[in-house]
Amino acid sequence: MMVGFGKYELPPLPYSYNALEPYIIEEIMRLHHTKHHNSYVMGANTALEKLEKHLRGEAQVDVRAVLRDFSFNYGGHIMHSIFWPNMAPPGKGGGKPGGRLEDFINKNFGSFDNFKNLFSQAAKTVEGVGWAVLAYDPITGDLKLLQVEKHNLLMTAGMVPLLVIDVWEHAYYLQYKNDRASYVDNWWNVVNWSDVEARLEKALNLAKPLIFPLAP
Ligand SMILES: [Fe+2]
Repeated sequence: MMVGFGKYELPPLPYSYNALEPYIIEEIMRLHHTKHHNSYVMGANTALEKLEKHLRGEAQVDVRAVLRDFSFNYGGHIMHSIFWPNMAPPGKGGGKPGGRLEDFINKNFGSFDNFKNLFSQAAKTVEGVGWAVLAYDPITGDLKLLQVEKHNLLMTAGMVPLLVIDVWEHAYYLQYKNDRASYVDNWWNVVNWSDVEARLEKALNLAKPLIFPLAP
């Protein structure tokens, strides 16, 4: 019986490993991309391969454990795949958003500074490891702020992540030690607003998620 699922691949970084210095050093970027992100890609694929063997009757697996692994590793892969292009070298990154993104931020958060403060607070206060996320909400057609634990807990179905910051220790510890707040404050210097703006434009064209009863 031919059964199976599509697999995931590690995307290349859109800049060199030292491109975000001095705000994020090369050693962090290299380990983060080649070891941590790569482990999530492999972990998601391994979970799928276990399910495939289960379906083919070649092995019995603990379905609950495998799906838990899949959720965690898939979440890690997706979040990191957004995180890399969300950043750009200093000079190209940093500053403030423009275009419709600026309008949405002003409408939903009052001002860019309000948004920046709230997002920073979300990032600095994640319990344990996780992410802060600016997302597009297709139901109401506006922006929402999310705080995600690990890579997948508290994630909200249907929301489209636009801007994410990784606050796992592996994202900053080699440079900032336990000072997550300084890492978050410095990270704004490498935010790639044109990438975030492009994600919003694409999200605005998405259909509403299929959570309502479908028309006959
Ligand atoms: Fe990470």
